[in-house]
Amino acid sequence: MRSFIGLAGLAVCSSVVLAAPTSMESRASCAFSGPTGAASVLKTKTQCSTIVLSNVAVPAGTTLDLTGLNEGTNVIFEGTTTFGYTEWLGPLVSVSGTNITVEGASGAVLNGDGSRWWDGKGSNGGKKKPKFFAAHDLKSSTISSLKITNSPVQVFSIDGAETLNLESITIDNLAGDTTGAHNTDAFDIGDSDGVTITNATVQNQDDCLAVNSGTNIIFTGGTCSGGHGLSIGSVGGRSDNTVNTVHIENSTIKNSQNGVRIKTVSGATGSVSGVTYRDITLENISNYGIVIEQDYENGSPTGKPTTGVPITDLTIDGVTGSVANDATDVYILCGKGSCSNWTWEGVSLTGGKKSSKCENIPTGASC
Ligand SMILES: *[C@@H]1O[C@H](CO)[C@@H](O)[C@H](O)[C@H]1NC(C)=O
Ligand SMILES: *[C@@H]1O[C@H](CO)[C@@H](O)[C@H](O)[C@H]1NC(C)=O
Ligand SMILES: *[C@@H]1O[C@H](CO)[C@@H](O)[C@H](O)[C@H]1NC(C)=O
Ligand SMILES: *[C@@H]1O[C@H](CO)[C@@H](O)[C@H](O)[C@H]1NC(C)=O
Ligand SMILES: *[C@@H]1O[C@H](CO)[C@@H](O)[C@H](O)[C@H]1NC(C)=O
Repeated sequence: MRSFIGLAGLAVCSSVVLAAPTSMESRASCAFSGPTGAASVLKTKTQCSTIVLSNVAVPAGTTLDLTGLNEGTNVIFEGTTTFGYTEWLGPLVSVSGTNITVEGASGAVLNGDGSRWWDGKGSNGGKKKPKFFAAHDLKSSTISSLKITNSPVQVFSIDGAETLNLESITIDNLAGDTTGAHNTDAFDIGDSDGVTITNATVQNQDDCLAVNSGTNIIFTGGTCSGGHGLSIGSVGGRSDNTVNTVHIENSTIKNSQNGVRIKTVSGATGSVSGVTYRDITLENISNYGIVIEQDYENGSPTGKPTTGVPITDLTIDGVTGSVANDATDVYILCGKGSCSNWTWEGVSLTGGKKSSKCENIPTGASC
């Protein structure tokens, strides 16, 4: 069974693989551009040590498929990458492999031209919309200096990663604020060990970061605007429901619904442990400065916390700034005994209301 799958997977390019020299040094630098670029890269990608994608116009309903690259391949985007329009689920771009680098050259943009799909419904209905960038099963790899604009819906889906760095990524969905962009999460992380996101600049309409599961996740030096905040969760109800060791530090969240957010799913099991939010600055937050709740069901809070996904060893250290005057500074809704061993210091939020609905606040924390 195993060898059959291997052969089937290689069938398309097996003659190339057998004929090509095996050492990395002797593989070529390959350049692709225009409307045929995506089809050509699919055919020849495993012959290239460097793949330059220059002004590629990806046809409607197809993925710019950079999966299964040879170990050590470098991918460089140049100019403007565009994508044809059809209703489908994407992704527009997909990359996998080991020791891969993906970088944007100076001035390079991946433009989703999302307005063709935006209908205010995001992934909850209306037009079928393609997710943008699947970064699945990347090991010891780096994605840097990419600029992504006008994503139809979610931007980065990071899954099955082992040691993946995302450096200086810019996501600019500002145009969607007034024209119906929705669920444009910047970085969704699941099932990953060792994801570091440094110096991201995000303007979007959903979570800036959403960690659904994974361990050793770092988000630092980020600026998030327009969205739903820096989030853990919702945790529970998936195949992997463990979040462990996450550091979200040195970041600013402005003009967003929430700042710091942890949400777990009602009635589900799992765990959230060792999460640290440190040195986070908030500005003009419309709902909650800090919100931690154990009552999510089908994407909405029920108001009734359950205890199956405990939140332990949480550190909130240095969350400062202001929220809008009809917002709430801090909201904590825990089940009985399912939030414990929290460190809570340097929380100084102004401008909003105090919540009277907090429950089971662990020692040290306060609403
Ligand atoms: C990663 O790939 C680069 C070439 O892009 C190579 O120089 C380097 O040795 C590789 N590193 C590892 C750990 O394989
Ligand atoms: C992130 O930005 C800081 C401040 O500009 C800079 O010192 C650091 O080198 C950057 N890190 C990366 C990985 O780009
Ligand atoms: C946040 O910034 C401080 C001070 O520059 C630095 O010591 C710390 O390592 C940074 N945090 C992360 C996760 O990089
Ligand atoms: C505050 O943030 C909201 C979005 O939550 C935005 O509509 C509004 O323009 C922002 N206000 C200022 C003064 O930036
Ligand atoms: C409490 O949390 C800290 C880290 O936040 C951790 O080092 C410690 O082991 C935890 N203690 C218990 C009893 O779980």
